Amino acid sequence: MAGREVNLLARYPKARRNVKARVGSKAENRAAALRFDREYFDGTREQGYGGYRYDGRWLPIAEDIVAHFGLRPGDRVLDVGCAKGFLVKDLMKVCPGLDVFGLDISRYAVRHCEPEVVGRLHVGNATDLPFPDASFRAVISINTVHNLDRADCIRALAEFERVAPGCGYVQVDAYRNPEERAVFEDWMLTAKTYGMPVDWRAILAEAGYTGDYFWTILEIDPEWTITD
Ligand SMILES: C[S@@+](CC[C@H](N)C(=O)[O-])C[C@H]1O[C@@H](n2cnc3c(N)ncnc32)[C@H](O)[C@@H]1O
Repeated sequence: MAGREVNLLARYPKARRNVKARVGSKAENRAAALRFDREYFDGTREQGYGGYRYDGRWLPIAEDIVAHFGLRPGDRVLDVGCAKGFLVKDLMKVCPGLDVFGLDISRYAVRHCEPEVVGRLHVGNATDLPFPDASFRAVISINTVHNLDRADCIRALAEFERVAPGCGYVQVDAYRNPEERAVFEDWMLTAKTYGMPVDWRAILAEAGYTGDYFWTILEIDPEWTITD
């Protein structure tokens, strides 16, 4: 059974990005970002987020996730690549009683999580989830698995399927044409696996992943800054 292409981040705010600012010292920025440590979250914009702070932007997305999966109080949900737990916090806010957990490779992010999610976030690798089979009602992973190489990407997607069979939502970086690819390659710091939607569908199928999915596509604007 194949999953569905559905955009659960439709209400995520648009952000302008200055691609040129990153192109200059890309190698150092990339090396810093790939540690997923302080520089990536709370360093400069050239190294990553440039300050990863809670501002409530995930609340509408949390509402759409709850509605999409028909989540109810008592259901267990896992966010893989949860960073500081913003989405974990907002899912619990929009659906009181929902039992939400997160997992991230970054000890820094988990140590700097939102107070509401202390004890709910685990440090770990998406490729090897420390949870029993079918132990979650849904698994979410936004803009995370493209940070793994292709083999690990497939391992991670198979893990999502194992812990929440047929009930996943995965969003990954993609592009639809050579122009978008060029912009993406200039901007991105940490992605190791990326391609067109057709390439991603092949990876999802190879992993046996049957949940839902969508793409993060950087769009070009005339001033050579971009909006997503
Ligand atoms: C672009 S951020 C996305 C964070 C959050 N999901 C969001 O959309 O704002 C990518 C996240 O994936 C985490 N990450 C990278 N590799 C990972 C891995 N192998 N397993 C788990 N998390 C990983 C990073 O530490 C980071 O928090």
